[in-house]
Amino acid sequence: MAAPSPGLASLAVSRYPRAVSIREVGPRDGLQNEAPRPVAERVALIDALSGTGLQRIEAASFVSPTAIPPMAGSAEVMDSITRVPGVIYSALVPNLRGAHDAVGARADEIEVVVSASETHNQRNVRRSVAESLAGVYEIVEFCSSAGVPVEGIVSTAFGCPYEGDVAPERVAQLAGHLLDAGCAGLSFGDTTGMATPARVDALCDALESARIDVARVGLHFHDTRGTALANVVAGLARGVVRYDASIGGLGGCPYAPGASGNAVTEDLVHMLADMGIDTGIDLDALIVCAQMAQDLVGRELPSAMLHAGPRTKLVSA
Ligand code: COA
Ligand code: ZN
Repeated sequence: MAAPSPGLASLAVSRYPRAVSIREVGPRDGLQNEAPRPVAERVALIDALSGTGLQRIEAASFVSPTAIPPMAGSAEVMDSITRVPGVIYSALVPNLRGAHDAVGARADEIEVVVSASETHNQRNVRRSVAESLAGVYEIVEFCSSAGVPVEGIVSTAFGCPYEGDVAPERVAQLAGHLLDAGCAGLSFGDTTGMATPARVDALCDALESARIDVARVGLHFHDTRGTALANVVAGLARGVVRYDASIGGLGGCPYAPGASGNAVTEDLVHMLADMGIDTGIDLDALIVCAQMAQDLVGRELPSAMLHAGPRTKLVSA
């Protein structure tokens, strides 16, 4: 693992959290936006990621295969992966049917998404926000009886490609409804990369006003407009300790025009290591996975670690 520079690490301790948790979302959020890959390749990627020290991997989604063809076969994926003790393998679901399938496939955690924008929610799951929220109650009830925790994700939390700005207060209110419905965790998705550090601050303010503890929420940034890592630093400054990222920068959302990949996992881990912030993840092992992801999709991924390598890699003079 790349060691942080000792001088910088001690400086970082006073301003930022000492450790953060990264959820790898490439196998779902990433691959759902690619041409469908065989189950065996999806399994191989998840298994490789399982050996990097990552503790949470979003492995699949249980959605309509007509809506998202690359996620067909998710039950087989969940059944075929080699589960590493301590790693949480989660699955995203849009409805109760998906929750039944995900629990049946032994997902350790269920993610349910509701959009902060009506138009995006309609496009994504063909329901109103109110209908989706009613569905969350059913999903939580079923999952609780199965002993599986549910995380509520608010998507388009920093802006909507159809509606434009989304008021942070609306996002916080929706997050409150998700907690009322019994969600054990919360996450906020910048579905199309409309967030900037100022908007991260504004959302944290709104969450605090709504008495939602920012130290317990997760943030999910796409790098569509080059702000993903800057947004993470803004989150760190507010004490947020959970971030999503995708290997190689795989990703996007098929219902969000112009969306591109998430924050790149290996670039994020590299940056955090030098800031003295522990992720428990082996950067070298992660870069091997990024190469694997790139080979799997057969196109160049935006990973800076694949292009330039870590800052500790010296060029011979
Ligand atoms: N898994 C698999 N199939 C499902 C399903 C699920 N969770 N939910 C519904 N379906 C099937 C139905 O059985 C039906 O199949 P049929 O046509 O063979 O009878 C078909 O999908 C349509 O069902 P319906 O209830 O009418 O759904 P819909 O057409 O209104 O679509 C969703 C609603 C939610 C199922 C669909 O839009 C979807 O899966 N969206 C997911 C979007 C996503 O993953 N976005 C990524 C997050 S950014
Ligand atoms: Zn996303």
